[in-house]
Amino acid sequence: MSRRVLIVHAHPEPRSLNRQLVDEAVSTLLQQGHEVMQSDLHAMGWKAVFDAQDFPSRANAKRLDFIAESGHAFANGLQTADVEEEQRKLLAADALILQFPLWWFGMPAILKGWVDRVFAYGLAYGWQGAGNRYRYGEGGLQGKRALLSVTVGGPAEDYAPRGINGPLEQLLFPITHGTLFFPGMAVLPTHAVYGTGRLDDARVAAARLAWQARLAGLFSDAPIAFRPQNGGDYPDGHALAEQVAPGQSGLLAHIAETSPDR
Ligand SMILES: Cc1cc2nc3c(=O)[nH]c(=O)nc-3n(C[C@H](O)[C@H](O)[C@H](O)COP(=O)(O)O)c2cc1C
Repeated sequence: MSRRVLIVHAHPEPRSLNRQLVDEAVSTLLQQGHEVMQSDLHAMGWKAVFDAQDFPSRANAKRLDFIAESGHAFANGLQTADVEEEQRKLLAADALILQFPLWWFGMPAILKGWVDRVFAYGLAYGWQGAGNRYRYGEGGLQGKRALLSVTVGGPAEDYAPRGINGPLEQLLFPITHGTLFFPGMAVLPTHAVYGTGRLDDARVAAARLAWQARLAGLFSDAPIAFRPQNGGDYPDGHALAEQVAPGQSGLLAHIAETSPDR
């Protein structure tokens, strides 16, 4: 079955590993019969900073309230053209892939700026104008899949369960859980290439093959079993019920025990 995939990527160098992985994804997905859309943020000259220029027709000219202006602009067709175009692509997509180098344990600022500006109030949060009624598993992006593909300078040992940097999936939790699951997407376990500082041609070729194999499961692999807000685990919509994940606290408590990612 043919589906639409949006790849948002954040690397300016055409010969970089990141761009090679984008090329691999495009050809693999096309071969699988899917339609591919791309947002090459550097080539687009994407404006990374969310600021007053995002709201040319303000609801309140006296004080900039980002959430209120985001909701007002989204609901009334007053967003900037670049943001509207990215939302159109995102809404048309069945799956979103974010391809980026790990920079300071997160995504590069240009990609964070894509999220800040494109994930508007009324779409990615405050869905249907209902505040936090729909979030974590439900919302404007429900029904879509999401996958992070990350290149990591450090070796895999540094990101192992007891590695010095901490496990990559936990470091990326604010993106997988807080950014992608929040508006309703089903998020797959992160795909990573480690030790990117020392990759020779053979290892780059191996990384391309591994990415190809991962992409085969884009529409069939099991997502991370994040607990949905309205699935019963959070009776008041805020905190886990006492009997759920008893004695546990912190990020991992929000992933069901059945998940392979725990
Ligand atoms: C600003 C910056 C921050 C970085 N932060 C990290 C980091 O937190 N952890 C890590 O393992 N590598 C880090 N790196 C290394 C990058 O992950 C690495 O250069 C990248 O994966 C290589 O991919 P590329 O060839 O596509 O640029 C950082 C690199 C830069 C330039």
